[in-house]
Amino acid sequence: MNEFSVSSVSPSNIAIVKYWGKHGNQLPNNPSISFTLSRCHTETSVKATKNDTGKCSMHFMFEGKESPKFQEKIEKYLTENQQYYGFLQGLDLEIESSNSFPHSSGIASSAASMSALVICLLKLEKLVNQDVTPVDMRKASFLSRLASGSAARSVYPVMTLWGVTPSVSESSDEYAVPLADMVNPVFKTYHDSILIVSNKEKSVSSRVGHSLMNGHPLAEQRYATARNNTERLLKVLQSGDIQEFIAIAEAEALQLHEMMATSNPPYHLMEPNTMKIIDLLREFRHDTGILACFTLDAGPNVHLLYPDSCNLQVKSFVKDNLLQYCHDNQCIDDVVQNMNL
Ligand code: PMV
Repeated sequence: MNEFSVSSVSPSNIAIVKYWGKHGNQLPNNPSISFTLSRCHTETSVKATKNDTGKCSMHFMFEGKESPKFQEKIEKYLTENQQYYGFLQGLDLEIESSNSFPHSSGIASSAASMSALVICLLKLEKLVNQDVTPVDMRKASFLSRLASGSAARSVYPVMTLWGVTPSVSESSDEYAVPLADMVNPVFKTYHDSILIVSNKEKSVSSRVGHSLMNGHPLAEQRYATARNNTERLLKVLQSGDIQEFIAIAEAEALQLHEMMATSNPPYHLMEPNTMKIIDLLREFRHDTGILACFTLDAGPNVHLLYPDSCNLQVKSFVKDNLLQYCHDNQCIDDVVQNMNL
């Protein structure tokens, strides 16, 4: 065979305990735990044609257009990790990728895009070697991590853990492990309504943010808190204690942004409407007893997390009270990716 085609769909994920600060070759300074989403995903296809040069060439298109930035990122990744991708020598690759979420949402999920690409390449390796066994997801997580840390967590449904933590013996800094088997059923029903406060590209990238944790005066305290929160969250995920889940999720989100506010140079990615939404949500929870909470990524958008049992109340609260603080009234309604999807 001279031509091979593979494709893959990979989801975005939202961390509850955050990964912020790394060392060595994309190794985390603390463990992290995330929900795997289902509607925000990247679809990637790769067409590989044999050539006579014995070398690998790559051409990348994003949603039908050239994307020099991504082309460069993927080339760099493949060059730096050649040892794992020997099978690509002698192949010309045509890579096409598209996102399920709107162009104008400001969400650029490297977790979804890089894990989708890695899974495609691992499928390609199987085809080239005429190996009919399924792709090893641990290897997919390991190779995704080398492309973008949080991508390590996008390869399993429901919830995943990346980074060594005492109570999970198979946990590793090198790859993520699935948590689905130990998660209380209530967390499998979770929604994530992503309130788009701004659709602009972040003023400070995550790459720079991670590097500002080196020499940060609060770094060691942050890592110790995150390690402790990981163990606390693992217990909560088993017990189904939503009050405690809320306490951990919101503290983690705010601490991530405090790290930015106290780094050198300091910066902030939250916007006035981010705080407005957080205040309104806390008021709503206090007044109604509805157990919805928030988390934040490294950006101004607010992720509202809640179990399916309060879906209708939260959706109408969002519509009546929060959409007005969003860019173009934009909100992306996502849900946790379950095993049967
Ligand atoms: O995977 P990166 O290098 O883009 O870093 C992700 C960092 C956060 O999204 C802020 C936290 C996390 O654990 O996903």
